[in-house]
Amino acid sequence: MPIDIAVVPVAGHGTRLLPATKSQPKEMLPVGRKPVVQYVVEELTQAGIRKLLFITGASKTSIENHFDFDERLINYLRETGREDELQQLAFERQDIEYFYTRQRRQLGLGHAVLCSRSLIGSQNFVVALGDSIIGINAQSDIVRRMTDEFESSGADIVVAFEEVDRSEVFRYGIAHPRGAAGERFELADLIEKPSVDEAPSHLAVAARYVFSPAIFEALDETEPGKGGEIQLTDAIRILLKRGAKGVGMTLPASERRFDIGNYESYFKSFVEFALADPDYGAALKEHLRGLL
Ligand code: UTP
Repeated sequence: MPIDIAVVPVAGHGTRLLPATKSQPKEMLPVGRKPVVQYVVEELTQAGIRKLLFITGASKTSIENHFDFDERLINYLRETGREDELQQLAFERQDIEYFYTRQRRQLGLGHAVLCSRSLIGSQNFVVALGDSIIGINAQSDIVRRMTDEFESSGADIVVAFEEVDRSEVFRYGIAHPRGAAGERFELADLIEKPSVDEAPSHLAVAARYVFSPAIFEALDETEPGKGGEIQLTDAIRILLKRGAKGVGMTLPASERRFDIGNYESYFKSFVEFALADPDYGAALKEHLRGLL
């Protein structure tokens, strides 16, 4: 059966974006006109995902509200003849089932994925981080390509990667490819935050994964690391060491990852999306020229 379910972890504290994230989720911060997580959902539905399981946490209820029907708002816009604004709510009518479960203690991304275990059961599934957009305005079909690859090659794990600057490798989980790394490559190992000299490539993990349920057993065995957190990368390494078939897929330049987890990258992403806005992009460009 084709993969049609995605787990979207959105339970992190988002401490790097304080004070903005004190009482609102970073996944709800706007990038251009939409909150981050709406782009994630749009990307996943375009890739054929029909069931979304959010791993949420305290102060994240606005995410659930965002994807609910808001009858009062719809009626108000209808009664006042605001057709354009009504169109902005079209995403509410997408043919998707939403599920929500809470990660009751923030024990890392691996632990968040483990919270989906009894709902995922024996299905293969996608994991898409709720704080990262792929492609400007989520114009990317990387998840479709990854699920196709997973099914056709009999892989156990497929991970998306993005080429990063050599000087930046120490910030990310980096791919150790078996042989040359192209658009698709065999994944021998993952090295978490290597030094520039130790890095086996410049390919950084890019927020999208496809797994078989074997990942849950590996997560069960994963020892907590710094701050008691269970890392997804460590569980992937356990599986790869046991001979699981891992495939890496490199994002093309046209489908960059926009990471909303820190201010530098959030500001850059916002400006880029605002510049691409069909109504206000040109005026903003002029304004920025005047400022610079
Ligand atoms: P991050 O690694 O950016 O962690 O999460 P964080 O806690 O959200 O942010 P900082 O480091 O405090 O600034 C990557 C993704 O994994 C989710 C986050 O919500 C985000 O979408 N996550 C992280 C969880 O769901 N649970 C966790 O325990 C940690």
